[in-house]
Amino acid sequence: MTDSEGTATGFRDDPFPGDVLEQLYLARGVDLRGYRSSTVQRRLSRRLAATGCTTCREYLNLLKSRPEEYDRLINSLTIKVSRFFRDPHVFRVLAREVLPRLAGAASYLCVWSAGCAQGQEAYSMAILLEHIKETRFPSLKARVVATDIDRDSLVGLGEYPVEMLAEVDSYFLKKYFRREGSRYRIRGPRCLFWTCSCQI
Ligand SMILES: C[S@@+](CC[C@H](N)C(=O)[O-])C[C@H]1O[C@@H](n2cnc3c(N)ncnc32)[C@H](O)[C@@H]1O
Repeated sequence: MTDSEGTATGFRDDPFPGDVLEQLYLARGVDLRGYRSSTVQRRLSRRLAATGCTTCREYLNLLKSRPEEYDRLINSLTIKVSRFFRDPHVFRVLAREVLPRLAGAASYLCVWSAGCAQGQEAYSMAILLEHIKETRFPSLKARVVATDIDRDSLVGLGEYPVEMLAEVDSYFLKKYFRREGSRYRIRGPRCLFWTCSCQI
């Protein structure tokens, strides 16, 4: 059996993809049980193919004997789409209204980017906070905390291919990034990152 992308799904006689999500939850505390089943089936089938399993039952056994497969499974199930200042309208409202109002009411702001992918959203927030501090609230203290369940997505944080910065305002680009060949490296604003994929 194959899906629309031609990937072997292996689910015809093996209707247990939900069991894999249950097992992931029990072993790692990562709850993806609410994910759309068509997405789970398509992505899970790739892990089955990559590990040489033909059924979910086989894959469940493999997870028990090779726990490092959990990380690959999480990586494969999660969606990584992100951009700097994604949803420009939202960032405009944050910059013009929300953050100045908060900064006027409190001397310390802590922002949490939950599901931060490769840090684009977290650094966008950190840049805005730094800008607001420099231009309007010099005594403001701020911190951005960022978490993701996929520890692989946090590898190489703070360094991005040039194309990824194409839509960043040129003033911010010049002030908060340094070009190094085909990549930009963030400079100045800092964030605290960690993975929330814990073993319980
Ligand atoms: C589509 S990206 C969005 C990134 C960023 N928030 C943005 O809007 O540009 C979703 C990210 O959330 C992470 N994620 C999904 N479920 C999560 C959970 N339960 N806890 C933490 N991170 C999660 C994924 O690994 C992925 O990196």
